[in-house]
Amino acid sequence: MKKSSVLWMLFLVSINFTIPAQDTPAWAKETPKQKADRMAWWTHDRFGMFIHWGTYSLAARHEWVKNNEKISDADYQKYFEHFDPDLYNPKEWAAKAKAAGMKYVVITTKHHEGFCLWDSKYTDFKVTNTPYGKDLIKPFVDAFRAEGIKIGFYYSLIDWHHPDFPYDGVHPNGPKDKDERKAANATRDIKKYQQYMKNQMTELLTKYGRIDELFTDFSYPGENGKGHEDWDSEGLLKLIRQLQPNIVVDNRLDLEHTDWGWDFVTPEQYMPKEWPTIRGKRVPWETCQTFSGSWGYYRDEHSWKSVRQLVVMLIEVTSKGGNLLLNVGPTARGLFDDRANERLEGMGKWMYLNSRSIYGCTQAPDDFKTPENCLLTYHPATKRLYVHVLDWPFQTLHLPGFAGKFKYAQLLNDASEVRFNITGDDVTFNLPVQKPNTEVPVIELYLE
Ligand code: GLC
Repeated sequence: MKKSSVLWMLFLVSINFTIPAQDTPAWAKETPKQKADRMAWWTHDRFGMFIHWGTYSLAARHEWVKNNEKISDADYQKYFEHFDPDLYNPKEWAAKAKAAGMKYVVITTKHHEGFCLWDSKYTDFKVTNTPYGKDLIKPFVDAFRAEGIKIGFYYSLIDWHHPDFPYDGVHPNGPKDKDERKAANATRDIKKYQQYMKNQMTELLTKYGRIDELFTDFSYPGENGKGHEDWDSEGLLKLIRQLQPNIVVDNRLDLEHTDWGWDFVTPEQYMPKEWPTIRGKRVPWETCQTFSGSWGYYRDEHSWKSVRQLVVMLIEVTSKGGNLLLNVGPTARGLFDDRANERLEGMGKWMYLNSRSIYGCTQAPDDFKTPENCLLTYHPATKRLYVHVLDWPFQTLHLPGFAGKFKYAQLLNDASEVRFNITGDDVTFNLPVQKPNTEVPVIELYLE
């Protein structure tokens, strides 16, 4: 199966689900208020860093390289044998995430290639057996926590290295022909793989203190794929909730037909048209996005988004009530490359002045119509509305229907008053000719 069709499927599964919800098992029972409280930090924080790092970072040409190029285990081994990130300093990473305004981080503890960044008891395919020889996760968790950043783990359900993971339509190795595949799978026992995942999940969720988010990845149910029965998603989630009752879990366990088997949906690498809904209800959502297209470090990829595009992305996501998880793919020496640093710094510059329009904010109430070339966000607790001006106009900005709805307006970057005229229901702001010196200027309105 092509990756694009897999992603398309994920999109359909996560957004368009219409099957009625299933009965909730006793261990998953929770009131809507309890769930909202559990997720309160997450819906407040809005902006996180994703980190994709593994042996594919040495190939430096996509984290799916094993699949894209159908590389055998034997040939892939060279990346494992040369994994030695001598410049790894998670304190530096954490400082960069913090300066960018990111409030939580999610790292790939294991990606589809099966390589583990921690010293798992249950496999030899792990960092402690590479030339680097040390656990990467503990210092990572300590460094980010020290900066006050919440910790998330990404864990791949897919595993192209484990001997009990049955070949399927997405596996890079194994026979293509269905009958041959069936024969080859005779020695692969998915029950053992299920247990492997539970064992590893237990390590990850007991050895590193409180884990705030879990990003499982991913399900592709059907004849040539794997879904909740293959993973024993219910059993896995039960274990996860027992070990970390406060954790926030993504929707890729293939349990979207339930109301209890996921906490948020995960539109990937596209911008939803509006706040995603499931069974008619707006749901928590987090879009994961890359700087350049691939998640793992890709030396020769040149489709990098600009700082401006990324700032607008963060604003747009917040304006639709969602979170942005923005990915960095560190190099095999353990550094963020210059292109990533430049974007992070640019976003940090904007966030330093304007984060008030992001943290704790959400979609504006329906009675505010978005003015032309603008995006609105709203802070329900402080009752302030934020007008993000995407294209700085000449002196005037018209806000139809805003008359009488706010008592004071200022530019957020320097708290300078914005004066205005009222004509009927409409407001016209009087703006300086020169665009304020910030990527996207924001006008802060104190509502009545
Ligand atoms: C996809 C990809 C994967 C990436 C992930 C991030 O499912 O398979 O490479 O880790 O999305 O959301």
